[in-house]
Amino acid sequence: HLLPTTALVAAAALALGACSGGLGSDEASPAATDGVALVEPGTLTVCTNPPFEPFEYEDESGEIVGLDMDIAREVAEDLGVELAVKVTPFDTIQSGTDLDTGTCDIVASGLTITEERQAKFDFSDPYFDADQGLLVPAGSDLSTVESLADKRVGVQLATTGETWATEEGLETVQFEDLGLQVQALTTGQVDAVVNDIAVLGPWIDEGFEVAATFPTGEQYGLGVKKGNTALLEEINSTLVRIAGDGTYEEIYTTHIGTAPDEG
Ligand code: ARG
Repeated sequence: HLLPTTALVAAAALALGACSGGLGSDEASPAATDGVALVEPGTLTVCTNPPFEPFEYEDESGEIVGLDMDIAREVAEDLGVELAVKVTPFDTIQSGTDLDTGTCDIVASGLTITEERQAKFDFSDPYFDADQGLLVPAGSDLSTVESLADKRVGVQLATTGETWATEEGLETVQFEDLGLQVQALTTGQVDAVVNDIAVLGPWIDEGFEVAATFPTGEQYGLGVKKGNTALLEEINSTLVRIAGDGTYEEIYTTHIGTAPDEG
């Protein structure tokens, strides 16, 4: 159900065409790698917003790891450069600001492809399917949209979860990130939390339960600055490669715990 193969193969064909046609222009830019100009030469800089386990979160050593970081690292490897991770607010990731200001080359942040965002920056082919979910304290009886009618629902600022909850007419309280969102659930500042279903599971051990899935049919993509087709084509050809050589399946299984086709 992930990585629609025909689209990716088409993207790979495009990328190959662009590479062979663009060889002459590579010399023009000193920071170019395969015709791709990078914010910091020799480095692919990615902006992301943890904590968002299993996509981007801090491990015991303080390194930001996760499914998104592994995919970004594959792109960097194909470009022959190092990956550098920058933590930025989700709002400036999803608005395209981090890309426009040259803070990073790509955004990889469990970012849902939406029309509004597509107007501001360019998305890769989709690499992950997502829906919204509800996290509540264990034992809570909240589990439906109706049950949330007179409750306070914590949302992450500028996310599709916020949009969904607002459209459902729920009373929302905004938080900068998922960590603060869940913290507010602990203190009772909110009664429930809405965010992408795949990031709620890791909190079950902390005394919470995932009470509902709200199907929204979202798909995650990586983002590049509007018009950066050279980098976009590199990303899409990396997605094709990792879908074909087993790397994507390995990354997915490591972080999600099941094989991609087992959902
Ligand atoms: N998928 C949702 C969106 O794009 C939430 C993403 C939040 N990501 C993060 N790393 N905090 O709006």
